[in-house]
Amino acid sequence: MSLKRVLLIVGGGISAYKTPELVRALEKRGIGCRVILTQAGSQFVTPLALASLTKDDVHQELFNLTHEAKMGHIELSRSADLVLVAPATADLIGKVANGLANDLASTALLATDKPVMMAPAMNVRMWEHPAVQRNLATLRGDGVYFIGPDEGAMACGEYGPGRMAEPDAIAAAVEAYWQKVSAYKPLKGKRAIVTAGPTLEALDPIRFLSNRSSGKQGYAIAQALAEAGADVTLVSGPTALNDVPGTTMARVESARDMLAACQAALPADIFVAVAAVADWRPETKAEVKLKLKADAKAPAMTLVENPDILATIAQSGQNRPTLVIGFAAETHDVLAYATAKRAKKGCDWLVANDVSGDVMGGESNQIMLVTADGHQSWPEAPKAQIAERLAAAIATHFGVTTA
Ligand code: C5P
Repeated sequence: MSLKRVLLIVGGGISAYKTPELVRALEKRGIGCRVILTQAGSQFVTPLALASLTKDDVHQELFNLTHEAKMGHIELSRSADLVLVAPATADLIGKVANGLANDLASTALLATDKPVMMAPAMNVRMWEHPAVQRNLATLRGDGVYFIGPDEGAMACGEYGPGRMAEPDAIAAAVEAYWQKVSAYKPLKGKRAIVTAGPTLEALDPIRFLSNRSSGKQGYAIAQALAEAGADVTLVSGPTALNDVPGTTMARVESARDMLAACQAALPADIFVAVAAVADWRPETKAEVKLKLKADAKAPAMTLVENPDILATIAQSGQNRPTLVIGFAAETHDVLAYATAKRAKKGCDWLVANDVSGDVMGGESNQIMLVTADGHQSWPEAPKAQIAERLAAAIATHFGVTTA
């Protein structure tokens, strides 16, 4: 996966004046920037300069109604592939090391689930202060990657380590770090089965019963699991989507075919049932197209229940995958229904979509994750981001942390 976008957080140090050059150096490498500029940072570089270069709004305030309506501050913190703080001041480093969040920059840094890199810049005495060194050690332990600082003459007239690394060196480090991070495969060696899309239950050679489902969320989950290194079988009902590269695709029509394809793909470590399976099917499929009777009455149709694929796999004894995840589309009382459905199906996690909005076929989704330990509500986000976050949670469940 190539690095497409960085969230650049510009702290308040003299070297903030070099950030337009940094934006350019990243752009030269095909990496776009979205910028958060701290109050102090705006003393050294203007929002207009950064906005002109990034061709995007520069985000400055935690509580900004216009920006919040377009993109909430939590979403902002996750909208990029990687977060880069340059210059990272002693203040910002100290805040994040101690879990403080009182402005947009520190809030985004605490809320992000993406790799964080920092290019520190401060006076040499400050850099060497035990408090700063303690905070750096804490952040290194939390997985933050530091670039620099360089040693040299400083704006304050002193000499030593504390100068922000040069923009081109920062951009090169970002690219190199991303290559390392994206080569990290936390789910390597794990087998996963994902169901997606609708099922189609034939009435005759032409007509069928089905459910409304684009398959987008299920395909995104299959992709995220494959990118995390899992060996994925994507069992899909009919959709308009292309095959997901790096997965084994099994295209099926009916619920019974979907169940058979899932069972054929066992054993697996992870099973994620995203498909909108038709609950019923016509009892018989006519061999030829049904015609209107002479009396012009509609033919009668008897429905029989389809197998519950999720419940069958979740209760499949010895062959049961270690982690079974179900989905549930709800329009109201989401938590109550999701909790009840988790128990009824026998799955470990239940991902409840709130479909009261424009989720069906849309690009974004809002979910609640219900597990044995309780529930978490995730902010509305593009389906690909929900998928990445779910893949990261799955990796954590298997005891590996995402980089
Ligand atoms: O009961 P309900 O259809 O709301 O349950 C939704 C969950 O169960 C989804 O994970 C869906 O993929 C799965 N399911 C299934 N087989 C069925 C019905 C639902 O796997 N026949």
